[in-house]
Amino acid sequence: MLSYRHAFHAGNHADVLKHAVLIQLLRYLGQKDAPYMYIDTHAGAGVYALDSGYAAKNAEYETGIARLWNREKLSEPLEQYRQLIKELNPSGQLRYYPGSPYIADKIARESDRLRLFELHPADGKLLQENFRKLEAHEAAQGRPAPSRGKRVMVYKEDGFNGLKALLPPPSRRGLVLVDPPYEVKNDYRRVLDTIEDALQRFATGIYAVWYPILQRTESHQMQERLKRLNAHSWLDVTLSISAPLPDGFGLHSSGMFILNPPWTLEPMLRTMMPELVQILGVDQGAGFTVKSGESNSSQSSRKRG
Ligand SMILES: C[S@@+](CC[C@H](N)C(=O)[O-])C[C@H]1O[C@@H](n2cnc3c(N)ncnc32)[C@H](O)[C@@H]1O
Repeated sequence: MLSYRHAFHAGNHADVLKHAVLIQLLRYLGQKDAPYMYIDTHAGAGVYALDSGYAAKNAEYETGIARLWNREKLSEPLEQYRQLIKELNPSGQLRYYPGSPYIADKIARESDRLRLFELHPADGKLLQENFRKLEAHEAAQGRPAPSRGKRVMVYKEDGFNGLKALLPPPSRRGLVLVDPPYEVKNDYRRVLDTIEDALQRFATGIYAVWYPILQRTESHQMQERLKRLNAHSWLDVTLSISAPLPDGFGLHSSGMFILNPPWTLEPMLRTMMPELVQILGVDQGAGFTVKSGESNSSQSSRKRG
């Protein structure tokens, strides 16, 4: 059942899109003094070694972060993304790739809270170990993190169910990343049910859902239903690095659907996405879309790159 291991995919084009957007959402929340809560319903292992084990097997990072690594010039949001990964690789050689929990830990402040769910026993253990190592590393540098116990909590539980008890966060400010493997069709339904319930508990939260674009209809149906949920507004961004492969296998396209996005996100994406297509695109099928709208309204804007 739990066969998915994110290490196989770490740093690929889909991670680039997801993590570049995640960084902007977290930075936006950090602009106000009031603390926020970041909840990762499907956290993964936190950090991945690219030169060994699963990640080295298919080297999917070569479709993603590796193509940005040595670029001379990047726009600000992509530079912020690359810089965060450079800090994890002080030798200058791309060896480690951060998962969403590590990214959030780097951006969140002392007063912010991280709540991370990971159901796979091996990845849940790795996530805890990685945070312990990070703490030891910081302490060795003379930067003890005494409040990490409260600041970061890892739950080896089902994130869809666990989210309920955390909403609304005490500060009434928060971001929820929902990033399931979608190996089972039921994940699409569970994403919708979970966010519908979450919006009732915490209507003003920001919700970011990553999804694969496959030759199945489920992801398309999920997008359409997410638009109709009771949020204030939505934004949907997709990135394709190539046309679909003739055999229908392989992930060439993915998206991030954001409910209650910050107003700053859309203009930023309209600058960043053409650049990403230029860097990551491999054939004429490469492109992006950015769509947005008010929930429960037919208004939307669309641009194809
Ligand atoms: C796509 S990966 C997460 C990647 C991570 N969010 C990142 O960006 O670095 C999905 C993770 O969800 C875990 N998982 C699967 N079902 C779950 C569930 N019901 N609750 C929590 N975690 C789950 C898998 O073990 C896997 O590690």
